[in-house]
Amino acid sequence: MTKTVISPWEVEGDIDYKKLIKQFGTTPISDFINNKLKDCHPLLRRGIYFSHRDFDKWLKAHSEGKKVSVITGRGPSEKMHIGHLVPFLVAKSLQDNFGCDVYIPISDDEKFFVKKNLSFEEALKYSEDNILDLIALGFDPKKTFIFQDFVYTDIYKYAARIAKRITYSTAKAAFGLTPGKNIGWSFYPAMQAAHILFPQFHSRKHISVVPVAIDQDPFIRLTRDIATHKDFNLEKPAALHAQFVPSLHGGSKMSSSGEGLIFLSDDAKTVKKKINKYAFSGGQATIEEHRKKGGNTKVDIPFQYLKMLFEPSDEKLEEIKQEYESGKMLTGELKAILIEKINDFLKDHQKNKIEAKKNLDKFILKN
Ligand code: TRP
Repeated sequence: MTKTVISPWEVEGDIDYKKLIKQFGTTPISDFINNKLKDCHPLLRRGIYFSHRDFDKWLKAHSEGKKVSVITGRGPSEKMHIGHLVPFLVAKSLQDNFGCDVYIPISDDEKFFVKKNLSFEEALKYSEDNILDLIALGFDPKKTFIFQDFVYTDIYKYAARIAKRITYSTAKAAFGLTPGKNIGWSFYPAMQAAHILFPQFHSRKHISVVPVAIDQDPFIRLTRDIATHKDFNLEKPAALHAQFVPSLHGGSKMSSSGEGLIFLSDDAKTVKKKINKYAFSGGQATIEEHRKKGGNTKVDIPFQYLKMLFEPSDEKLEEIKQEYESGKMLTGELKAILIEKINDFLKDHQKNKIEAKKNLDKFILKN
């Protein structure tokens, strides 16, 4: 067994999500919450968001007619792949279903500090490209606020006020800062805390939810501690925690390096090739064996992608599951379904991304 390591900058090994809930001290998603999310994106309906902090309070505030919002960010390491979409699809779904504002900070500074070989200019360039990908998802321009740390420099005012309230030892304990790292790493948590409280700085005190992968929880905990400090007197932000989207090979997190990633800019032929060549299959070694024993949907990456991202209909998904597990559907057939779905999505997405250029101004916050 490999050792499991989870921190904001490191995810390795096999992940036991129930254990993580205990370890991080978060709360599993209840039936009450599930029920409120039944019209939302499959990511929220099918258990991929498995844990939370105070999301019940967020729902209650909304049902009482109070202001609520969503904030989730993007570290622009490079061009986006489908795994990067997860928190943004959820933000969009919450916006559609609850009519709330969405805030999207782009932490070009984070990646600039963390990635040794990323130049300042590249960080800016990737941010701009990422922003177009995000706008292409169809957010409501009247209710969506996007900003880059290197461009919307007003954020620094808030980060500085927060930084003053974080001791070096707190940051070190939460983020595993080691002596060889540049000091940008030590300051960055103040920046991300400023992102998370930004909806309240920007409008007024209210509860905001942060959909993130569970590795980002240390930032949430830190921010919750700071929010109620008398300097700020803000609401503790809520959180929704996602499992990691596996890479095509079946590894626990779709990390940004290496083959086996599907980029939002991939063309149809590339997608087909990648899925057919790399997607880990839960099917059997021979057709005869597969017909007899059926496929294992729990480990099958094409099935997992359909479940998480690409098959919105619960009935269809169940039908596919039964056919695959009974051996009636073969691996190649399952892969073909996924390839078509991804390519349909990417075709629209790439078109929307070109359109997005015209609408940039409607989304970008100005200093
Ligand atoms: N650090 C996050 C990541 O690497 C990106 C991010 C920046 C973020 N600001 C945020 C996430 C605020 C949630 C809230 O993915």
